[in-house]
Amino acid sequence: MYLGLDLGTSGVKALLIDADQRVLGSATAPLTVSRPAPGWSEQDPAAWISATRDAITALGADHDLRAVKGIGLSGQMHGATLLDAGDQVLRPCILWNDTRSHVEAAAMDADPRFRAITGNIVFPGFTAPKLAWVKANEPDIFAKTTKVLLPKDYLRLWLTGEHVAEMSDAAGTAWLDTGARAWAPDLLEATGLGLDHMPRLVEGTDTSGGVRADLADLGLSPGTPVAGGAGDNAATAVGMGIVNAGEAFVSIGTSGVLFAANDGYAPDPDTALHTFCHALPGAWHQMGVILAASDALTWYGGLVGATPAALTSALGPLQAPGRALFLPYLGGERTPHNDAQIRAALIGLDHGADQQAGTRAVLEGVAFAFRDCLDAMAATGTRPARMVAVGGGSNSDYWLAAIATALNTPIDVPDGSDTGAAFGAARLGLMAAEGADASTATQPAIARTIDPDPALTAAFDAAHTRYRAAYTALQEIS
Ligand code: XUL
Repeated sequence: MYLGLDLGTSGVKALLIDADQRVLGSATAPLTVSRPAPGWSEQDPAAWISATRDAITALGADHDLRAVKGIGLSGQMHGATLLDAGDQVLRPCILWNDTRSHVEAAAMDADPRFRAITGNIVFPGFTAPKLAWVKANEPDIFAKTTKVLLPKDYLRLWLTGEHVAEMSDAAGTAWLDTGARAWAPDLLEATGLGLDHMPRLVEGTDTSGGVRADLADLGLSPGTPVAGGAGDNAATAVGMGIVNAGEAFVSIGTSGVLFAANDGYAPDPDTALHTFCHALPGAWHQMGVILAASDALTWYGGLVGATPAALTSALGPLQAPGRALFLPYLGGERTPHNDAQIRAALIGLDHGADQQAGTRAVLEGVAFAFRDCLDAMAATGTRPARMVAVGGGSNSDYWLAAIATALNTPIDVPDGSDTGAAFGAARLGLMAAEGADASTATQPAIARTIDPDPALTAAFDAAHTRYRAAYTALQEIS
């Protein structure tokens, strides 16, 4: 058996597969996000450990975890977990969707070395500007910081006692030479840090360490190899078999991601696309990232007092967009705007605008944000012909139909098997333990395809044009 652990934003998922990659079971434990100030988003790393313990313990109730031969880790990207010389956590982790460091990010981005070496804009959500913010605002904590770990790499420290990162997640720090797959000492120095602040780098399919003997109460055998693993998007891609050029997925999770595997390293930072290492050696990928996808529907559900599932199940077949228009920038936006200041809007309401009209506007607004990502990607020459759907939001056929139509791209829906980030992590665990190659990352069976609705593409195009105009207007008042 192989175990995948995915440290998400809303929970930790533990998933077991057998040697034939069949899912044997999974368990999740919830996490909450704390927002102590506008634009801030934090979690206590101790909560990650206790949620991981809970998820593993729940799995262990039905399975003998001593049979686990390899473990893979996946996690929310970009978070800054700051440790002192004794590996004690110095402050809550500043998460991927925290935009407090937008001033520091803009200053770093103005230093041409960052885009040239990392292949990316320095977004406020990335790790490096967070350290610059801590240096400016919490100098005592900065002075005590001895190691900076990404969220899943903190889980690894707990599991194995090792300070290790891997390429796909490291690419989201703004300190990695993404083409060379190595830390960039110049960029670390520009942040007031050195190579010794960074964990050792491995590939996602390498073994990074073994389970500590004093975690025996979890039921895992001491020494069980732990793979490098991946940032959650690259882990999802491994789970879905999105590893060759032309293959793509659209993820409707808390964040929204349009992910395309590439032939080689092909950065284009001016587009606000992300160009990162893939979790497999010698592979890279591009992605457009929107900060609120299902997060936007959850927000709207809170406003109107309904669950996301109740909201989407009340909708019939896809309709042409109405006048109500939603821009999902609840916490700023990454692709294509790189705009930490912008905020969401729900406009064009008339007396007939009811709860359903609002739901449709939210789903359409997220679809238009994905369309912006696709346009940015297409401008670099990457135009996926189809994409696989993943993430909680993909349970809504209305949402998938709106995205397929807004992007004019067929969306394949897997057969219901669990192929997300935890599954990808388990696959990486298997690959590391068995020395298996990329052919292990096969694609799931596709249950059905949601095609763009040709009768509605013109209406979605027109609504997307309104959406772009609304963004321009919104910039003026945000
Ligand atoms: C990717 C990103 C998000 C997080 C969510 O750049 O910030 O997708 O990884 O977990």
